[in-house]
Amino acid sequence: MAEERKLRMGMVGGGPGAFIGPIHRIAAELDGKIELVAGAFSQSAERSREAGERFHIDPARAYADYRQMIEAERKLTDGIDFVAIVTPNHLHLPVALAALEAGIPVMSDKPATANYEEVLKLEAAVAKAGLPYGLTHTYAGYQMVREARAMCAEGKLGKIRKVAVEYFQGWLSRPIEASGQKQAEWRTDPARNGPGGAIGDIGTHAFHLLEYVSGLEVTAINATLRSVVPGRKLDDDCNAFVRMSNGAGGMLACSQVAAGEMNELRLRIYGEEGSIEWRQQDPNRLTVKWLDKPEEIHHAATSYLSGDAKAVARTPAGHPEGYLEAFAVLYSEFADALIAWKEGKWEQGRRNSLPATLPGIRAGVRGMRFMERAIESNRREGWVEF
Ligand SMILES: NC(=O)c1ccc[n+]([C@@H]2O[C@H](COP(=O)([O-])OP(=O)(O)OC[C@H]3O[C@@H](n4cnc5c(N)ncnc54)[C@H](O)[C@@H]3O)[C@@H](O)[C@H]2O)c1
Repeated sequence: MAEERKLRMGMVGGGPGAFIGPIHRIAAELDGKIELVAGAFSQSAERSREAGERFHIDPARAYADYRQMIEAERKLTDGIDFVAIVTPNHLHLPVALAALEAGIPVMSDKPATANYEEVLKLEAAVAKAGLPYGLTHTYAGYQMVREARAMCAEGKLGKIRKVAVEYFQGWLSRPIEASGQKQAEWRTDPARNGPGGAIGDIGTHAFHLLEYVSGLEVTAINATLRSVVPGRKLDDDCNAFVRMSNGAGGMLACSQVAAGEMNELRLRIYGEEGSIEWRQQDPNRLTVKWLDKPEEIHHAATSYLSGDAKAVARTPAGHPEGYLEAFAVLYSEFADALIAWKEGKWEQGRRNSLPATLPGIRAGVRGMRFMERAIESNRREGWVEF
């Protein structure tokens, strides 16, 4: 890294009791390229201040409101280099717009916005600002996902014929939102979550993983969405068939009422010669099955992996990496892209030069399009094109 100092991060969300904010903080700082210096960690000024204390930042930089943070930080000579967005979905667009309009790059958690109309506004704002915008589709940061992606790109499986991606969780099997469970409460409220329940929360991850690894695009979907838990306003279960840009067919299913499952994200891709299987709960292995050869298990951090996979290995083979490191891979790539941008090294004429491995605004638009198309397909009870 040519830059002498660490990049300064200002976080929005991630206050006391939050799920993903603490993960972002640890992951962003893991490689010594980034440090947390400011934040509007909560909608409550008091809780934001408390969070600032806990994170040992300058008390003056624990703000009551994200607009206040952006306004104050842009005037400082040592102000933040980017904003990390880890709030409920309905705030992703306003916070990103406020940052971009102030000339500050953005790293946002998914989904990019709460709905499709919003993401088009965001896409236009990112293009206009010409600033780095990264999106933490976490699973793109796993080493063996990079390996699977490289294998598909190199045609090792032959022409892809069938795909299957499942993302099953069980934590919303009961109406825990009614008892005020923090994460469930806003996720089941259309005003703060957006119109896609499980489909928006975890379906977008499954969809991204499928397109990211296969290198193909989904061109049509036939989805059934259900609210299994009585009284729930948003879907908590989805079954869908998909058609891919090369003619392959497949299935995408997600559920938050699959009792007993924790975070069972599983991807399978079948080509003419063989297939791959990756499971998030066993992330350091990639199963490769061949038509005419015995099955293989490929392990993380081994000598036979592709350059793309090796590039993100941190620990030796047999020393497992996981969720935090996957996030850190995305932050590390974002930091490098941001420094290149600061140094004026972004490609002339291109407004967004993030590396292809790092999800950005295009992934954000695809995800929201997927959610919108799935909802429309469910309404029409049939196939819809993208
Ligand atoms: N990439 C992943 O794997 C992953 C995993 C979990 C969550 N997420 C995404 O991260 C986001 C947050 O999810 P979560 O589960 O951490 O939610 P959470 O409810 O645990 O945390 C949200 C935080 O935002 C804060 N907040 C709310 N309004 C605010 C405001 N106006 N200003 C500042 N802070 C405010 C809350 O106080 C809380 O600290 C969601 O968009 C979710 O989809 C992504």
